[in-house]
Amino acid sequence: MRVMKYAAALAVGVMVSLSPALAQSPIVIKFSHVVAPDTPKGKGATKFAELAGQYTAGKVKVEVYPNSQLYKDKEELEALQLGAVQMLAPSLAKFGPLGVKEFEVFDLPFIFPSKDALNKVTKGEVGKSLLSKLEAKGITGLAYWDNGFKIMSANSALKTPDDFLGLKLRIQSSKVLEAQMKALGAVPQVMAFSEVYQALQTGVVDGTENPPSNMYTQKMHEVQKHATVSNHGYLGYAVIVNKKFWDELPADARAGLDKAMAEATDYANQIAQKENDDALAAMKAAGKTTFIELDAAQKAAWMKALKPVHDEMAARVGKDLIEQIYKATGAN
Ligand code: LMR
Repeated sequence: MRVMKYAAALAVGVMVSLSPALAQSPIVIKFSHVVAPDTPKGKGATKFAELAGQYTAGKVKVEVYPNSQLYKDKEELEALQLGAVQMLAPSLAKFGPLGVKEFEVFDLPFIFPSKDALNKVTKGEVGKSLLSKLEAKGITGLAYWDNGFKIMSANSALKTPDDFLGLKLRIQSSKVLEAQMKALGAVPQVMAFSEVYQALQTGVVDGTENPPSNMYTQKMHEVQKHATVSNHGYLGYAVIVNKKFWDELPADARAGLDKAMAEATDYANQIAQKENDDALAAMKAAGKTTFIELDAAQKAAWMKALKPVHDEMAARVGKDLIEQIYKATGAN
């Protein structure tokens, strides 16, 4: 009897010291995100969930919660650190407020001339060393997932930097994005992604920036009269997990999940450009927004207004890091 009690107490002891998500069978991974299922990130998450079930023979179940169903931008990172969810894929900008300001380097306007240039950074040493900075926050970075280059939208036409004067534009919580909007003469407004549609609809803000896939799936084109295909900045993600949870996974489950993540990453990165191209085409076809393409002189004027943000933000994100990115991309 006493032995049984001891064994039961031991079992309880083991259970409490493990992450609660590991004490279940199957092991449940809650994967929370803020965008629609029908986006590069949403589809990547769904693919990962499918493959994870398959490669762990049902030992792990990944539950995907899209559209800020569980948490909004900032809260989802806190929830991950507390272990209330196990996996997220926040945009890189969102690591700044967590105290890993270096990630805001990805927000610098016109820092990546192309997706190839971006891939050289995320797939190389710089990408790896940035992910490792998350460990101190109790977070393990698993992969970079692509979305795309951003377009700028408003209810007035945005052709030259002068057109931005005094406009209230929603941004993610990033000092670099704040500096970017100020450099254009606009007034940046930090707001959670889930609140943007309504803010645009009610005129709380005049406009915003996002890749076409996000703009389309949130129906922002229905409440924005103009959008400029400026490709002035990049938006992508880091897939992250609660470090303690990840480290404590049984080895066989971990192996299956690593395989599933590698394949889901290839998939998400392969579909991202087409998802954005299709979203842009769909918004053009919907006819609610007028799309503006910048001519060479207009593009040059945007670049002239925005490039100083690199120097202005060097002290925040790291001058060396910016130099490393210039070197890796062969640009600037
Ligand atoms: C945003 O807040 O605009 C984006 O980070 C949303 C996302 O996750 O793509």
